[in-house]
Amino acid sequence: MLAVAILAAGRGTRMKSRIPKVLHDLGGRSLLERALACAAGMQPSRELVIVGYEGEWVQRSLAHLPQIEFVEQAQQLGTGHAVQQLIPHLQGFEGDLLVLNGDVPLLRAQTLEGLLKTHQENQNKVTLLTAQLTEPKGYGRVFCDERSIVTQIVEDRDCTPTQRQNNRVNAGIYCFNWAALAEVLPKLQSNNNQQEFYLTDAVGLLSPAMAVDVEDHQEILGINDRQQLATAYGILQTRIKADWMAAGVTLVDPNSITIDDTVTIASDVVIEPQTHVRGKTTIATGCRIGPGSLIENSEIGENTTVVMSVVSDSTIQANSRIGPYSHLRGHVQVGEGCRIGNFVELKNSTLGDRTNVAHLSYLGDATLGDRVNIGAGTITANYDGVSKHPTVIGDRTKTGANSVLVAPITIGADVTIAAGSTVTKDVADDCLVIARARQANRPGWRLKPSVPQPD
Ligand code: UD1
Ligand code: MG
Repeated sequence: MLAVAILAAGRGTRMKSRIPKVLHDLGGRSLLERALACAAGMQPSRELVIVGYEGEWVQRSLAHLPQIEFVEQAQQLGTGHAVQQLIPHLQGFEGDLLVLNGDVPLLRAQTLEGLLKTHQENQNKVTLLTAQLTEPKGYGRVFCDERSIVTQIVEDRDCTPTQRQNNRVNAGIYCFNWAALAEVLPKLQSNNNQQEFYLTDAVGLLSPAMAVDVEDHQEILGINDRQQLATAYGILQTRIKADWMAAGVTLVDPNSITIDDTVTIASDVVIEPQTHVRGKTTIATGCRIGPGSLIENSEIGENTTVVMSVVSDSTIQANSRIGPYSHLRGHVQVGEGCRIGNFVELKNSTLGDRTNVAHLSYLGDATLGDRVNIGAGTITANYDGVSKHPTVIGDRTKTGANSVLVAPITIGADVTIAAGSTVTKDVADDCLVIARARQANRPGWRLKPSVPQPD
């Protein structure tokens, strides 16, 4: 039997933040979600998260994972104290307990598998993950004999200058025999630099305690400050981009591109420089995205191009062309073969197939049919200062340049609207609409010459 406990009660003082450290975002998921996702790969029978600082906030962030048991650590008196809180919850539990620091987000599932395997094969009371770092500053130092049996763990703060020379560090990832741990937990003391109960002291009370070096030391990066958060982001990006390139996606200048690992990209997609793809986004084959675009929580159909544009929470069907300088937001649905052009903003609107909005337009809360042509500068006046109102435009309708469509309004199919019209009333199918002041030409009229002004 395997249980997993994640330590997530600390505030994370070094982040200098109101947000609890484990809720800081790393490429589309919180640090805590990342730790949990890694642990979930081990298919544990119990998943416990220890919460404290802003505990309700942390719990809310995991509301989509009903199997999680939350354990409260009302006062944060250290990592050992955090694990002490598990005692009443794991009463009678037989098996191993995997303990993960909630601020170690880059761990791979196979590393945990290896740790568990060593633990079980050697029948250890505790097995912990270690790494040899060239810059071990900030981490607890792990002292071992030649068989990797742990003799001592000393926190960076508590190290003597000689101890600090040791570059084998504690990753904050442990596999304990729960019964043995439960017995030593009450014995922890807080006579250290931080006056905290250290989980690492429990390791010293257990035997055999074994250390396992991680293969890729980047995996164990603990996030304590914004610098480390940025470093972790860089490592994550390198991993994600390498995976997509291996899967047949072209990244032109990968260093200038960022991709969340919640994104799905088909092969033969080209991502151009300065492009950022975030959230739950799917990009189908043949698309060219960028340069200079941001796509978030959106679905892009096959062979669509998006140039210098922002697309949020929207769906675009195949063979459409977006940009340059388009902004799609708030649940826009664009049909097949559409063209959304320069300086066009679409909000909460649906466009049929082969519909064009090519220049300088705003369409909000609008539903357009197929083959509609929106003339340059056409806008929907969808907001009366209190509420938003819908606009409906039928198939093949054309709006003239600089038309204003005052919502709520329904314009039928095959309508032509004259340039410069302000349309306030519904229009039936097959109409020409002219809604503007008549032009008056006065032949022979000329400005009177002005009287010269004295200097
Ligand atoms: C800890 C380890 C250190 C290791 C490092 C790896 C101890 C004493 N030290 O140090 O050996 O090298 O992680 O990253 O364990 N937490 C609680 N309750 C508390 C205190 C902390 O839940 O009372 C949680 C935090 O939210 C965090 C994790 O425990 O997710 C680690 O706490 P942190 O303060 O970052 O420990 P480190 O100083 O990094
Ligand atoms: Mg830490």
